[in-house]
Amino acid sequence: MAAVIGALVPVIVKLSLLLLCLNINSSLIQARKWESWKDKYPFIKPSSSFSSSSPSNAWSSSGSNEAYDYDYIIVGGGTAGCPLAATLSQKFSVLLLERGGVPFDNANVTLMQNFHISLADTSPTSASQIFVSTDGVFNVRAKVLGGGTSINAGFYSRASESYIKKVGWDSKLVSESFPWIEKQIVHRPILAPWQKAVRDGLLEVGISPFNGFTYDHIYGTKSGGTIFDRFGRRKTAAELLTSGNPEKLHVLVHATVQKIEFDTSGKKPRAVAVVFEDEKGNQHKAFLSKTKGSEIIVSSGAIGSPQILLLSGIGPKAELEKLNISVVLDNKFVGKGMSDNPLNTIFVPTNRPVQQSLIQTVGITKMGVYIEASSGYGESEESIQCDHGIASAEIGQLSAIPPKQRTHEAIEAHKRNKKNVPREVFRGGFILEKIATPLSTGHLSLKSNKIDDSPSVTFNYFSHPRDLMQCVDGIRIVEKIVKSKHFTNFAQCDKETLDKLLNMSVQANINLIPKHTNDTESLEQFCKDTVITIWHYHGGCHVGKVVSPDYRVINVKRLRVIDGSTFTESPGTNPQATVMMMGRYIGVKILRERLGRAAGL
Ligand SMILES: Cc1cc2nc3c(=O)[nH]c(=O)nc-3n(C[C@H](O)[C@H](O)[C@H](O)COP(=O)(O)OP(=O)(O)OC[C@H]3O[C@@H](n4cnc5c(N)ncnc54)[C@H](O)[C@@H]3O)c2cc1C
Ligand SMILES: *[C@@H]1O[C@H](CO)[C@@H](O)[C@H](O)[C@H]1NC(C)=O
Ligand SMILES: *[C@@H]1O[C@H](CO)[C@@H](O)[C@H](O)[C@H]1NC(C)=O
Ligand SMILES: *[C@@H]1O[C@H](CO)[C@@H](O)[C@H](O)[C@H]1NC(C)=O
Ligand SMILES: *[C@@H]1O[C@H](CO)[C@@H](O)[C@H](O)[C@H]1NC(C)=O
Repeated sequence: MAAVIGALVPVIVKLSLLLLCLNINSSLIQARKWESWKDKYPFIKPSSSFSSSSPSNAWSSSGSNEAYDYDYIIVGGGTAGCPLAATLSQKFSVLLLERGGVPFDNANVTLMQNFHISLADTSPTSASQIFVSTDGVFNVRAKVLGGGTSINAGFYSRASESYIKKVGWDSKLVSESFPWIEKQIVHRPILAPWQKAVRDGLLEVGISPFNGFTYDHIYGTKSGGTIFDRFGRRKTAAELLTSGNPEKLHVLVHATVQKIEFDTSGKKPRAVAVVFEDEKGNQHKAFLSKTKGSEIIVSSGAIGSPQILLLSGIGPKAELEKLNISVVLDNKFVGKGMSDNPLNTIFVPTNRPVQQSLIQTVGITKMGVYIEASSGYGESEESIQCDHGIASAEIGQLSAIPPKQRTHEAIEAHKRNKKNVPREVFRGGFILEKIATPLSTGHLSLKSNKIDDSPSVTFNYFSHPRDLMQCVDGIRIVEKIVKSKHFTNFAQCDKETLDKLLNMSVQANINLIPKHTNDTESLEQFCKDTVITIWHYHGGCHVGKVVSPDYRVINVKRLRVIDGSTFTESPGTNPQATVMMMGRYIGVKILRERLGRAAGL
């Protein structure tokens, strides 16, 4: 502790007028009724309106009494699923099935100030679903149209050129697909004071050059894009659906897909239908058109996609048989190679409130760690809510307690204890360090044969010594930033006050401060004890193991997986840009392959 306390010059942050403006504007927006979304998205319907035998009831536009067979059925209306559905609907009929509701009328989703509240929401209508990996780290997955983009921290930054090359994507089409997303939902951020201070600190400690504002992934320090506008209002992947063809696009919300069905009479199983449950608990079956080229595409995310394959009978035979799931295809790799990039943070308390910011600045180091920052919390004058945004204990980011001790009881105890903790302890911000490409991997397996039970997931954080070494390097960089002239200037307050605040934050079980940053062993322990997640988990349906390089499920006909579950490495500093791009990219590729020039793309 001494090392860091000594390093810190006390912190004073002016509550900027900008923040006041931001809050006023946000509440005006919040007060506005969200009636208009139905006009903008006439193709989004409740899943109970679905009727496969008489589609005219549900979709007056279809005008047919034949069973409606879709050219594409996409399972999961998330980060990849939405741009994919919009693109394919340009030429083909598409059914997009999303288990959650719409993001448009939910202030927990749409307002940046509610970021952490949304993640802590455990009500049945919540846009997020908490899961705890066997490592003990609390985590969350999206359950809402737009997927991760409806609950995430909004930072938008592309994958590197070398990543694109490695994955084997066509770089020309990639360079057309990123702007397709950016024009619709990405903004240039207004940098918050905390983000500027961290930017200047990064440059001072040598994470250079300064690359200014850019979407590109290049070594040095930069600010990236954001899906929040300047009023802190979120755009999501669901907005991309407006560039679909409303005549051919059907989106059902609260449609929980339980399994995919196959015709197993041929040499290879062929996907033919999906079974889903509507918001009233009734089951439906949607059929794929028999036309050559029709496909079911699973885009349910890194937890959801392997789970659906397993529930549909694609996975390790013995595991499926244990749960009485009839085996369609034995593939031992489904659910394997799960990774989550470990996140470790240092909380720097301040003696004045700081403006809320999620992620705007990033330091891309050559040491395999990325440095990011967040600030502010839910301490508004009207509410007694005291939280830590990205690292709120309420969402399980209890980094002051080693993972295995982070029980629901510990969270409840934290909430009770919070009432006695001085409010000052909630003021300040975090400097974050994320391992770029963890070598530690884990696995996912079903706990039951019910879709609503989150599978059991293990990430094995820091089981590989290289990851631990990189974390130690990262913490040392963070310490240098905290000590840097720019950061200490920003944080000017007397050392005594700061010591008191730091002590309080430690005693309130909010912060752990590395005791001796000179001592590698104790820093390694610090990394293990304080590990939390930045929610960039990926894997479970790796290319070459579960899917082919064009994302077709190996040895199965008419089935693809397109989302973060196919990644062996998380792209860019943060993945959402590349996941959305991938949805658009594959959509265009499919259209070109089926239609050639007639695709008009
Ligand atoms: C809290 C948080 C903060 C983050 N911050 C950032 C950030 O700032 N920047 C960044 O780049 N990335 C960030 N990420 C990561 C990024 O958002 C995700 O990596 C990305 O959204 C994953 O996309 P996906 O398409 O793989 O899955 P998702 O977007 O999760 O899509 C899967 C969809 O499938 C649906 N689904 C699942 N199962 C079923 C089923 N059985 N039936 C029907 N539908 C189903 C889900 O409800 C969901 O909508 C963050 C993530 C989280 C959770
Ligand atoms: C937002 O989250 C809070 C906290 O869990 C919850 O009480 C509230 O109902 C949610 N609001 C909406 C509109 O879903
Ligand atoms: C599987 O089926 C057997 C025999 O019908 C039954 O005894 C067992 O409980 C089932 N297991 C599960 C997990 O459903
Ligand atoms: C902070 O705590 C340490 C012991 O953990 C103590 O020595 C020091 O005096 C405390 N400082 C303040 C300002 O309270
Ligand atoms: C770091 O530790 C080494 C060996 O333990 C010691 O020689 C050195 O003086 C220490 N440096 C600082 C700055 O404390």
